[in-house]
Amino acid sequence: MGVFDVVDVRKQFPALDEGAAHFDGPGGSQTPQVVADAVATTMTSALANRGTLTAAERRSDEIVVAAREAMADLLGTDPRGIVFGRSMTQLTYDFARTLAKTWAPGDEVVVTRLDHDANVRPWIQAAEAVGATIRWVAFDTETSELDDVTPLLNDRTRLVAVTAASNLIGTRPDTVDIADRVHEAGALLYVDGVHLTAHAPIDASYADFYVCSPYKFFGPHLGALTASPELLETLRPDKLAPTADVVPERFELGTLPYESLAGTTAAVDFMAGLGGTGATRRERLQSSLQVVEEYEDNLRDGLEARLAAIPGIRLYGHAARRTPTLLFTLEGWTPAAVAERLAAVNVNAPAGSFYAYEPARHLGLGAAGAVRVGLAPYTDQADVDRLIAAVESLDAVSTD
Ligand SMILES: Cc1ncc(COP(=O)(O)O)c(C=O)c1O
Repeated sequence: MGVFDVVDVRKQFPALDEGAAHFDGPGGSQTPQVVADAVATTMTSALANRGTLTAAERRSDEIVVAAREAMADLLGTDPRGIVFGRSMTQLTYDFARTLAKTWAPGDEVVVTRLDHDANVRPWIQAAEAVGATIRWVAFDTETSELDDVTPLLNDRTRLVAVTAASNLIGTRPDTVDIADRVHEAGALLYVDGVHLTAHAPIDASYADFYVCSPYKFFGPHLGALTASPELLETLRPDKLAPTADVVPERFELGTLPYESLAGTTAAVDFMAGLGGTGATRRERLQSSLQVVEEYEDNLRDGLEARLAAIPGIRLYGHAARRTPTLLFTLEGWTPAAVAERLAAVNVNAPAGSFYAYEPARHLGLGAAGAVRVGLAPYTDQADVDRLIAAVESLDAVSTD
């Protein structure tokens, strides 16, 4: 088992020198120097369209190949099935439209009330366009656990879209078990791993599609999807005539962002170095993310107990398995007012529903949402103390 050194980790994030306590990681993590260097070095090196003739062409090609290998190591899948896109949202819209070409009226698609809207709306709109029916899985607002998917599955089910972890309340449904049920029904499983991938060792091979976003795990702003190359071979996305009709390239519209791909590889290498051990990068990633998970969960437990002890606080995430992401409201205060007061003392914990549109409505939070506190490997005990002190100071003064 490796050792996690938060002091050393923090030194690698220049943004922390600005002095804020960052609890805004679920919206996008801060960036280590090595990732910024990889982006900058790529931008100032000779680049060209991918090819084999010039050094510039070969460099671009190598960057793409390396990024696919890095993502495959992170997710435990095949580099030939890694698709890059501008964002998870864009990739999901693209795949929803592509998959919907194979659906017919009366087919069924299952979405959940726990998911970020990027894993809900694209499926609803794609289903509506072909006359397919949407089925909803709710979650228990007391326990935060996702309801059983099984009763909704039948021989008309074509696809189930579910999150690996809620970006609002942290719930981690048992997606491996869901995959078994979905596959028994002969349907496909599309998993949103955007929130989870920064916080736990991942083996995405159970899902037909698993999608995530490197900017949530210390990388640049883009999205990545993994699927088996054999499954991708069966799909026919809309594409330009000259685009190579091969997998995974035929799913990647336009020229890839080489600098962001180089940054993604650097982010994966950075994660592999977060205290884990092992002979291969895959092993070091699994080990490091386990170390990170233990560190973050431990910090979360202490923070949660202290928040819960503050009069007027209501916490919303209670699932047995969840990420280190807390959501709270404070009696007498609007979430926006709390976030504003925290920001005034350089504690960044935003308020809102964070595009978790259905979950926020299901919890009765409405558009105002709640205050979200997300932990990251660069969060330390001093950050937690600052947050608690700031929230405690609010308790005394009500906005009523
Ligand atoms: C759980 C979850 N899914 C999807 C998304 C959308 O990701 P992207 O910004 O890459 O489209 C987010 C972004 O916050 C998210 O937290």
